[in-house]
Amino acid sequence: MKGVVLAGGTGSRLRPITFSMAKQLVPVANKPILFYGLEDLAEAGIEEVGVIIAPQTGDEIRRTVGDGDRFGLSIEYIVQDEPLGLAHALKTALPFVDGDDVLMYLGDNLVKQGVADVVRDFNEDRPNCQILLTKVDDPRQFGVAELGDAGEVVRLVEKPSNPRSDLALVGVYLFDQTVVEAVNAIQPSARGELEITDAIQYLVSSGREVRPSLVTGWWKDTGKKEDLLHANELVLSDLKEEISGDVVGGAIRGVVRVGAGSRLVDCEVAGPAVIGSGVQMARTTVGPNTAIGDGCRLLDVQIEDSIVLDTAEIHGWSLRDSLIGREAKLHGAAPAGYVEVMLGERSELRGE
Ligand code: G1P
Repeated sequence: MKGVVLAGGTGSRLRPITFSMAKQLVPVANKPILFYGLEDLAEAGIEEVGVIIAPQTGDEIRRTVGDGDRFGLSIEYIVQDEPLGLAHALKTALPFVDGDDVLMYLGDNLVKQGVADVVRDFNEDRPNCQILLTKVDDPRQFGVAELGDAGEVVRLVEKPSNPRSDLALVGVYLFDQTVVEAVNAIQPSARGELEITDAIQYLVSSGREVRPSLVTGWWKDTGKKEDLLHANELVLSDLKEEISGDVVGGAIRGVVRVGAGSRLVDCEVAGPAVIGSGVQMARTTVGPNTAIGDGCRLLDVQIEDSIVLDTAEIHGWSLRDSLIGREAKLHGAAPAGYVEVMLGERSELRGE
């Protein structure tokens, strides 16, 4: 089985962060989102992976992910010239798949249970397609599956305005070679894209076996800031403690990771929280569910439920539910109380 990982999306809902970086590389618990998916594929025994990239952000993804060695994978990059849909991306990858089975993984998805179990089920039972489903609060934002009395897939609709169930399609799909026929048979949707949901519906309509499995752990599509912060919280809830830097005075409670070369002076850290390497922090309170990237400098700061990317500098602000870009600066007289901000790379906020 080959892996096809989609890392071409522009991340419009994560601007301004995604004006300067690929959304799949935005860190969750200090690791690019995309790495979690690649690790899942490796753990499931998949060896060859095609990563779909867009012309705009592809180079950064190639540079960051490399040839796959660090994951135990062999990675090839496939350029999708235009964002014409998930089924179009898979179509672009067909020469790479070369008649093999394929697991398609959306690079901005995080799946707690990984994919090893579904890959094993698929290999044992050999349905034509296997999809992962999970209950969601607002199914209108997703592809939605309607199941029959025997649990079989009856119908799949992409982002329906009147959903017939609350079961959303998770961004992990397994196919045998009948997918070639499906992606070639479908037409663009109203939003002008070749939808993978329509390709799977084609398989259902033509009597192929499409097997649903319910996701047991959590699943997150990290398209928006709230989802990204929630994903951060979920990943951090499994954090292992490791304190490598210097902690001078202050207190550390709960599960906390501090990277090498970091120095915390008179700081209060309440885990789960991860602080990268080479971070300088003084008189700062880091609340739970927070990730501070490498090389950041925080002085007299209070921060919780937030993600701070590498080498940002914050002096005197109190932040909550915030996403701070690389090399961004917050300083000067801070507003009273906590603020919630999303600040792009190298942007600056200065209180008067
Ligand atoms: C895509 C799929 C949708 C699926 C979702 C999962 O939506 O089209 O069916 O439920 O991924 O993340 P998108 O995030 O591209 O809008």
